[in-house]
Amino acid sequence: TRSQHMETNAMTLTRWVLQEQRKHPGATGDLTQLLNAICTAIKAISTAVRKAGIAKLYGISGDVNVTGDEQKKLDVLSDDLFVNMMKASFMTCVLVTEERPNAIIVEPENQGKYIVCFDPLDGSSNIDCLGSIGSIFSIYRKDTEGEPTAQDALQPGNRIVASGYALYGSATMIVLAIGHNSGVHGFMLDPSIGEFILSEPNIRIKPRHEIYSINEGYTQYWDEAIKEYVQKKKFPETGKPYGSRYIGSMVADVHRTLVYGGIFMYPAHKKAPKGKLRLMYECNPMAFIIEQAGGIATTGEGRVLDVVPTDIHQRCPVFLGSPEDIKELLEIMEKHK
Ligand code: AHM
Ligand code: MG
Repeated sequence: TRSQHMETNAMTLTRWVLQEQRKHPGATGDLTQLLNAICTAIKAISTAVRKAGIAKLYGISGDVNVTGDEQKKLDVLSDDLFVNMMKASFMTCVLVTEERPNAIIVEPENQGKYIVCFDPLDGSSNIDCLGSIGSIFSIYRKDTEGEPTAQDALQPGNRIVASGYALYGSATMIVLAIGHNSGVHGFMLDPSIGEFILSEPNIRIKPRHEIYSINEGYTQYWDEAIKEYVQKKKFPETGKPYGSRYIGSMVADVHRTLVYGGIFMYPAHKKAPKGKLRLMYECNPMAFIIEQAGGIATTGEGRVLDVVPTDIHQRCPVFLGSPEDIKELLEIMEKHK
């Protein structure tokens, strides 16, 4: 028998990262250590999202909070977990989080060479209805001498060392891209052993797929180009119309786009002149993953990854997904210029 049907030689995320690092002779193992800390934060967030332990709080039969404990809001809890795990890794010097107005400069005794930008829990409008939510992160190297400052975080996405996201969907998965040309890989959390297991190696996005994803409630605010593109998807000259899917949770919408293909859009519009999504911890990490998987991520003017940031919380219009779908959109945008 195969030892109680348990895989005894699984490829965990840590093992995979260690193996990747081995390929680079000068690698110190620092990135592995940092990613380990990120995984710990994500595991704890996943557990909180799935409400593990809620029975204790409510009592087995009653519907009241027996302990009277005030539960920390999920987004605050997630932010605390990320910040504390990052500091405790000894691998970071500057942290940028959606939850805080200023960049965090890590205390000197805990400093390391990496900068991490993250949205600890994205898709907040989905929290209360138990919809899918996620965490997003990107990692940069500090490229200046001297004391770390917030300025060190203002690097374009094309300098990303590694980026990833965790989706708390019907299962928890981390999708990760390290460096250029080592591919995009999906690791499923097995809660029974608390490890992320490589379940989707080398994810490649389809050249085209019949799904568009955009908040269509804002149609009246859109530019003519976006209106024309979406109209064309609904009333194609030939063939079937595209399907429409929009959760309003970036990680879930981008993950579907990565796995099934199609196009995800959050354009600038009349009420949101720069779009809504944030460059440093929403658009860039996702753009990096989509490009590494063979897709395109554009602002409509150029690569998302080439935008030079001036503010840690700046917004950026974003269109990402299957290359043929994005090219078709860009042609229509060009026509309207
Ligand atoms: P949040 O950071 O407050 O959760 O907002 C970000 C979310 C994204 O996950 C999602 O893509 C977008 O907001 C949806 O916005 P809208 O409701 O305008 O369509
Ligand atoms: Mg967010």
